[in-house]
Amino acid sequence: MRNILLFGTNNHKFVLLNESEPGEEDGIRSNQYLIVHEDAGVLLDPGGFGVMPRVLAEMLRYVSVDQVRGIFLSHQDPDIVGGLSTWLELIKAPVYISRIWMRFLPHYGLKNMSQFIGVSDEGMDCEILPGFALKIIPAHFLHSEGQINVYDPVSKILFSGDIGAAMVPTDNNDAYVDDFKSHVPHIEAFHRRYMCSNKAILYWLETIANLDIEMIAPQHGPIYRGAAVQDFLDWLRDLQCGIDLMQSGGRFSA
Ligand SMILES: [Fe+2]
Ligand SMILES: [Fe+2]
Repeated sequence: MRNILLFGTNNHKFVLLNESEPGEEDGIRSNQYLIVHEDAGVLLDPGGFGVMPRVLAEMLRYVSVDQVRGIFLSHQDPDIVGGLSTWLELIKAPVYISRIWMRFLPHYGLKNMSQFIGVSDEGMDCEILPGFALKIIPAHFLHSEGQINVYDPVSKILFSGDIGAAMVPTDNNDAYVDDFKSHVPHIEAFHRRYMCSNKAILYWLETIANLDIEMIAPQHGPIYRGAAVQDFLDWLRDLQCGIDLMQSGGRFSA
């Protein structure tokens, strides 16, 4: 059970709610995040069907379902959207996802799409409440064709979806990446195969260049902080991945 306060002041918190147990979600543990400002909450990637009851229980330590003012989905994968039809029985707040995934969501058993907001390709600023604004940052093709990130200017945490996602051994429960070098083996294979191209990475780096980032919080694995933030971004800049490495016959160069 994980429930870690990444940032906290009197009126603003950024919380890692939980990680799914190994075995659930095919052994790839997921992070779900809650931002609380005054008495309003926002959920980031609330997770698959299997973890929903535990994520809800953790969330209720901070806010009631009526206080949730938004749900952000980084992309369309089942480990993000799988529990959503159950969440939406409880929460009547806007749900943000890239516009290109809107037409696929009804296949997750979501019948009423009136709560959904299709985010344009350029991203958008979201004022959740006066004084509580989040930035939706485009992160296309990393890995999803329509991925979005969420930047919280108060905590200076960038929620990065699958960018920075790590597959750590099941006995590794580190919450943070402090030594980036020792973390590389947990991210290298995933990023080389799942991230679409170095071009997509360079555009993303340009897009986030002016953000003041204290932490990068991915959907899987530990959170990057301190020097590990810049070390990770520098590593990514040089990464060849996806179609950069693709060859004929379904092969990928090493
Ligand atoms: Fe994904
Ligand atoms: Fe993921």
